[in-house]
Amino acid sequence: MTVQTLEHETATALFDVTPLQPSLGALITGIDLAKPIDRHSYDALRAALLKYRVLFFRDQNLTREQHIAFGAAFGDLEEHPVFSLPDYPQILPLISEELKGKYRQSTDSNWHADTTFRAEPSAASILIQRVSPSLGGDTVFANAVAAYDTLDEETKARIDGLTAIHDPSIFIQFLDSEEKKEALRASFPPVEHPVVRIHPETGEKVLFVNSVFTRHIVGLPEDKSKALLARLFDQVKRPEFHVRWSWQPGSIAFWDNRATQHYAVPDYSEARHMERVTIVGDRPVGPTAA
Ligand code: SIN
Repeated sequence: MTVQTLEHETATALFDVTPLQPSLGALITGIDLAKPIDRHSYDALRAALLKYRVLFFRDQNLTREQHIAFGAAFGDLEEHPVFSLPDYPQILPLISEELKGKYRQSTDSNWHADTTFRAEPSAASILIQRVSPSLGGDTVFANAVAAYDTLDEETKARIDGLTAIHDPSIFIQFLDSEEKKEALRASFPPVEHPVVRIHPETGEKVLFVNSVFTRHIVGLPEDKSKALLARLFDQVKRPEFHVRWSWQPGSIAFWDNRATQHYAVPDYSEARHMERVTIVGDRPVGPTAA
């Protein structure tokens, strides 16, 4: 396996980067995320994230405070409107026993980017595993830039100027009162995003519809919208755009949510506990608005 050290202006070997697949994903070693990150390491991690789109780490036994501090080094952190820890509102917990398969079926185990129901969807997410099933429960990540790039020219020209509606209605089933459901609808009304977004840092074109939060394409009749979305959702499922990550307690995945989608493989029956912090993003801009 090739191991390369990310070049940096200080010429210091900050950490090692091992690419995991041609399309995306790199394993980062030689760094302890429990310690405060210096400016150079932070800049180098940020550059690696833009290049590899998802960074993986092993044996990072971060406390919740350290997880939050690591995330906060990259930007403001979100509070999830439905799932958050009472004492740590920036942490989204995914506890398999509590969710009883419901989250898996509707959300996790469907291809998605995080929180595209927001007007400003998450820029990046940092997920740590706390408890592992003895087998299974991997997460697969897809490169949504490659998914766009490999569309035929006619489809690209067709979707470049389109927008789609996203909403958080999938979460209604997790709320136990009409008041909470109404509050979610009021706080997150349907939002219109470009079907193709320009990545705000790399300038790349990204396929920006997903099967969890995208409802329909604006201006198309329902049957045509459904058919086009199905075609675009399928494009993200191509294995050549994927990297698959097997978790252990203390493993971390840090993904650029503006350039990827992910899918939690629902093949486990034992406990699986995950905790995520999520970095605030910005309003997506499409190619025709640029
Ligand atoms: C997520 O969608 O943020 C969680 C993915 C996972 O549970 O593997």
